[in-house]
Amino acid sequence: MNDVALSSAERAAKLEGMGCKRKRVEDIRFVQGKGNYVDDMKLPGMLYGDFTRSPHGHARVKNIDTTKAAALPGVVAVITAETLKTVNLAWMPTLAGDVQMVLADGKVLYQNQEVAFVIAEDRYTAADAADLVEVEYEALPVNVDPFKAMTDGAPIIREDLKDKTDGAHGKRKHPNHIFSWAAGDKTATDAAFEKADVTIKTMIAYPRVHPCPLETCQCVASFDKIKGELTLWGTFQAPHVIRTVGSLISKIPEHKIHVIAPDIGGGFGNKVGAYPGYICAIVASIVTGRPVKWVEDRIENLSTTAFARDFYMDTEIACTKDGKVTALRCYTIADHGAFDACANATKWPAGLFSIITGSYDFPTAHVLVDGVYTNKAPGGVAYRCSFRVTEAAYAIERAMDVMAQKLGMDAAEFRMKNLIRREQFPYTSATGWQYDSGDYQTAMTKAMESVDYKQLREEQKAKREAFKRGETRELMGIGVAFFTEIVGAGPSRACDILGIAMFDSAEIRIHPTGTGICRLGTKSQGQGHETTYAQIIATELGLPADNIAVEEGNTDTAPYGLGTYGSRSTPVSGAATAMACRKIKAKAQMIAAYMLEVHDDDLEWDVDRFRVKGAPERSKTMTELAWAAYHEVPPGMEPGLEAINYYDPPNFTYPFGAYICVVDVDVDTGVTKVRRFYALDDCGTRINPMIIEGQIHGGLTEAFGIAMGQEIHYDEDGNVTTASFMDYFLPTAVETPHWETDWTTTPSPHHPIGAKGVGESPNVGGVPCFSNAINDAFAFLGSTHIQMPHDHWRTWMAADNLGLHG
Ligand code: CDP
Repeated sequence: MNDVALSSAERAAKLEGMGCKRKRVEDIRFVQGKGNYVDDMKLPGMLYGDFTRSPHGHARVKNIDTTKAAALPGVVAVITAETLKTVNLAWMPTLAGDVQMVLADGKVLYQNQEVAFVIAEDRYTAADAADLVEVEYEALPVNVDPFKAMTDGAPIIREDLKDKTDGAHGKRKHPNHIFSWAAGDKTATDAAFEKADVTIKTMIAYPRVHPCPLETCQCVASFDKIKGELTLWGTFQAPHVIRTVGSLISKIPEHKIHVIAPDIGGGFGNKVGAYPGYICAIVASIVTGRPVKWVEDRIENLSTTAFARDFYMDTEIACTKDGKVTALRCYTIADHGAFDACANATKWPAGLFSIITGSYDFPTAHVLVDGVYTNKAPGGVAYRCSFRVTEAAYAIERAMDVMAQKLGMDAAEFRMKNLIRREQFPYTSATGWQYDSGDYQTAMTKAMESVDYKQLREEQKAKREAFKRGETRELMGIGVAFFTEIVGAGPSRACDILGIAMFDSAEIRIHPTGTGICRLGTKSQGQGHETTYAQIIATELGLPADNIAVEEGNTDTAPYGLGTYGSRSTPVSGAATAMACRKIKAKAQMIAAYMLEVHDDDLEWDVDRFRVKGAPERSKTMTELAWAAYHEVPPGMEPGLEAINYYDPPNFTYPFGAYICVVDVDVDTGVTKVRRFYALDDCGTRINPMIIEGQIHGGLTEAFGIAMGQEIHYDEDGNVTTASFMDYFLPTAVETPHWETDWTTTPSPHHPIGAKGVGESPNVGGVPCFSNAINDAFAFLGSTHIQMPHDHWRTWMAADNLGLHG
């Protein structure tokens, strides 16, 4: 077994550990259609549930008649709020300290809200019967405009709260007000604005969008009356949280709830929270004594389960005349829809939005966010980002461009001048965040050189002259964005969800033959966790990655964890994995010392073995030590080779990136072609460069969709007009541009392997980069800020507003 003929480097390569472009092991089943998703499940006697939903944006429910629906052959039961009241489940707590109707209780507050749940022998009968539920509505005035929410006479959305002056996050100043939340130093910021040479102020809107994973939200609930146990399979990004919250809501003891998340087809934040469909399926299973499946269709997913963004950010920057930023001020209205069901850490009702100073050295800043209720679906999830960092990055990156334009400075030059310098790390921002590490100037320089930025600007100058002379109708835009993410929630002192501190976990068992299993509290939705956690273990323990199974998503077997969202898996569970490995390695070292009859300190680690210092031919491989752990442990030592680690990170990690995009805009059609998109990401130590590249491609594609066409739009009557892929832009391979990816590596100083998250970064940096490119195309004509999304129609309108159509 002692493979002495190979060099250390050759042995390391065979392990396929960290840094290796290991092929994704999960793809073997995914590409063959052998994944096991919730909707693949068929249980004996399984029933199917479907919702009757509100056609109104706001209406009183005068009466619900279920007679006809219940009479349809194949229908087993129909549940309404009245049924749920008998088990005290008509309302449920949200992740944000609010409560939410499970089924309409006296009122509907947004279109497509759940009104009744029909359970039938098959899905089609359930759908037909849902249409037969007769609901008498009295329409009420609708408000879908967050700016009108707190005006006199605005329709009161939440009558259940109207007299409550205290909310979950402090005083409420209007019946439609949810919270006010501030960060930074108002006095110092206002003073800096008073004496600033130059200031800008721009209303930067980030429209409501939707994570729209390809697999919609769904579950199967099966209640065993004999054992009093509930098994819940579902598309859960955070299975343990669902178990705990499920127990608190249902009063079923937590050890009698088994939550299982099988394969998941994309989550992006959409599958973090709890939905009425889960509660109704559980109640239906308890009522009928049979398993009940609930699967959303696309319209339901887009119009009712968690949206993202809907932030309106009045952003100001103060600056010296030579281009040094002195202060940032931002007032934001956040539209949270009808119930505050935002997925944020409890302390942060506006998420991590106060990271808004971004990558720049602002001496002072002040942020104030007002959350309001409107007649829109609830949610407010971190769609491929960490709790509102995307909104913050968009605001600062647009505002920096607006300021550069006012100063007459180049956008990249202005950023370079204000980026936090390498020697300033660890850096404390004006709003109190401690950035762990960064080398921003190096990243920006590499990005600019890679695309030949200077030459691009020269080309743009020539094209602008040609445009002015009437020789072309095409504008060239160059978008620059530099972003800093904040991922890896979180230090438990700063982050909890419903009082559960945000840490994460890994349990590793090494079997006698040197293979093993790692179980984690996170849950992959396509990020390749089965591949990459094994790589961490391979490097830490010197066992081939192929010999390690990775299992997530079963609350009975995995240690408690807070799940996968906000790029927290690598920063938190990746760290837990490395730390658990180190416990195993420490034990293996004692076994090796015993077997080699030396002191522990006389051993050194070499890729996959301990060897005696000064006598390298005397060694024990980890595989040999695994066998020994079950057969030949030192006297007094417990046999076995396993460890568990709960990792509470000391800080977030702060990945960053420099993105540059080149677009060509036809002013007569609004058609925009993305000529180039270059993305440089720094996520610290890179575990699997191929998976990182895939994550960046996916995130950039989503960023492209958001920036160039997505919006969940409501008309004035509260009708959601973008509830299908006919109306909501989901980019396919046809529209998606070519991506150029690059990297620098600045390890996190506090993470055991120096890794930061990466999955969210391209969405955070990509959106402002596209938007800056479109805005840059028009900037020389006097335009300062064109709102997203930049679809062809709106781009054509922007040209029209500038008088370009005669
Ligand atoms: O929490 P989530 O898995 O969504 O995000 P992540 O921690 O950023 O990881 C996404 C994928 O990229 C995982 O498979 C990671 O192992 C991989 N990754 C990596 O290879 N190296 C890094 N430094 C960060 C992530």
